[in-house]
Amino acid sequence: MTLPAKVRIVEVGPRDGLQNEMVAVPAAVKIRLIEDLAAAGLSVIEAGAFVSPKWVPQMADSAAVLAGLKRDTAKRYPVLVPNLQGFDAAIAAGAREVAVFAAASESFARKNTNCSIAESLERFRPVMARAGEIGIPVRGYISCVLGCPYEGEIAPKAVADVAKVLKDMGCYEISLGDTIGVGTPLATRRLIEAVASVVPIPALAAHFHDTYGQALANLLIALQMGIGVVDASVAGFGGCPYAQGATGNVATEDVVFMLNGMGIETGVDLDRLAAAGWRVLHHIGREPTARVSRAMWQKRQKSQV
Ligand code: HMG
Ligand code: MG
Repeated sequence: MTLPAKVRIVEVGPRDGLQNEMVAVPAAVKIRLIEDLAAAGLSVIEAGAFVSPKWVPQMADSAAVLAGLKRDTAKRYPVLVPNLQGFDAAIAAGAREVAVFAAASESFARKNTNCSIAESLERFRPVMARAGEIGIPVRGYISCVLGCPYEGEIAPKAVADVAKVLKDMGCYEISLGDTIGVGTPLATRRLIEAVASVVPIPALAAHFHDTYGQALANLLIALQMGIGVVDASVAGFGGCPYAQGATGNVATEDVVFMLNGMGIETGVDLDRLAAAGWRVLHHIGREPTARVSRAMWQKRQKSQV
């Protein structure tokens, strides 16, 4: 069994997580969270999204978040952009890296971005051109890679086709999103085989939501197939506002705990990571639900009695 010696975790909690929390989280709390995550050892932290505030009000303060952030120059703070308008706003707010997002399902593309898959890809061309001119790296996401809330099963070939377009356009990495967490290990294997036939494995990332509790099992398959970049959300915050029932991304604590146990390096301090999540949970008034965070929380509560 081959496994990567190191995994780069892309922390998406401040974006994918908080975009779907019912309680509005003020910019100051987001800023503290991002700074705490950087201090816990995360090297890439998705800091916000420059999307329509009518569609996703939770991300409307992304410019304020970037403005207020004390950045560690060794870290990266990408933001999501759906079109050139979002890209220009992100750059004006100080973003130095962005991510575009497409889908492998036509119905999901319409619900999430109000256009077809082909139209969404066309919107990215001017973004890629401008990013290229000013030296901004662009990551590409694909949603619904293992199933769609409207269309059900998605053919791996449909994902591979979108992945190839994004890669050929100049995305340095393609993140495969199991938006509604319905993937299972053998389906994950078939998906990665199909995508790897058009995009090399080192340019792929796994972005698995944990709705049905399958994310870690699927991640193990991805790691065994050579994927070394994993997206995760502190405390398992999140979901997707256009995918009903999609709960959070796999929790960063769950991923770090598993990788620690396997001797795979992440550079992340689990105690500091969990504490970063608790500070926000405390703010939105609930206890942790993600497994490792919850176990650590309960252990801490007992030790304080
Ligand atoms: P639209 O309404 O079709 O856009 O939305 P439009 O071009 O017709 O413009 C309509 C209005 O939106 C105009 O304002 C524009 O200025 C404004 P108005 O004149 O009505 O006042 N607008 C914008 N405002 C701010 N920033 C922008 C922007 N663009 C237009 N960038 C659009 C099309 C794509 C903008 C909209 O559908 C949208 O914002 N969608 C974003 C949805 C979203 O953020 N979803 C969650 C992120 S994706 C995700 O979570 C999946 C992922 O995690 C992977 C996975 O798990 O699968 C990445
Ligand atoms: Mg997501």
